[in-house]
Amino acid sequence: MAIVSDPPYGIGFAHGGNDNSGIGRGAYATKFAKIEIRGDDRPFDPAPLLTIGNQHILWGGNHFADRLPSSSAWLTWDKRAASGHSNDFADCELAWTDLGTVARMFRHHWDGMMKASERGQPRVHPTQKPIALMEWCIRFIANGTIILDPYMGSGTTGVASVKLGRPFIGIEIDEGYFDIACARIRKAHDQPDMLIEAARTAPAAQEALDL
Ligand SMILES: C[S@@+](CC[C@H](N)C(=O)[O-])C[C@H]1O[C@@H](n2cnc3c(N)ncnc32)[C@H](O)[C@@H]1O
Repeated sequence: MAIVSDPPYGIGFAHGGNDNSGIGRGAYATKFAKIEIRGDDRPFDPAPLLTIGNQHILWGGNHFADRLPSSSAWLTWDKRAASGHSNDFADCELAWTDLGTVARMFRHHWDGMMKASERGQPRVHPTQKPIALMEWCIRFIANGTIILDPYMGSGTTGVASVKLGRPFIGIEIDEGYFDIACARIRKAHDQPDMLIEAARTAPAAQEALDL
């Protein structure tokens, strides 16, 4: 089992204050104004997660790096890819991993309505990650390994897992986001990528949807 997650970072997130979402300004910022992330009001302790599974990818790891083992295998998401444009918010996001590889970079523009993917699709969670980003990092995990996201928010890790035909288990404390996650994962299951038909028939993926 591998944990691929984007937990609460312990930064007291509320848009308009710290911003690691890429929401930017404008309509999306208004939509999520002052919405808080459950559990983000206290320091995040990754220790329990490290006792589960064999591999871990934890987005936001730079916010709790003092509680993580040292690693050379950080993943970077360059959110300003190619634009050369910087603003008040973070230019990139970092994931701590124990993959034992070298550091890797994913360039994918994601700034307010300026998005390299999912254009025209409204965001449903204030710190929603691009599906493409989660697909990229799940590809570092061997095929067949169960992907666990204990903080799945709107279910992006689950959508990416299903699209790649990977077995997935997701947990979310907020009932509203849990329902959104289930709906997104189910939709991804019902509309698989043409090249990954296995996603439709993977028994573990079907069991997860039947829960
Ligand atoms: C940073 S967000 C994840 C967003 C996700 N990556 C997405 O694309 O939508 C972290 C999520 O963890 C949830 N959470 C916080 N504490 C939790 C807990 N103890 N158990 C399960 N979920 C929790 C929050 O409600 C929030 O939706």
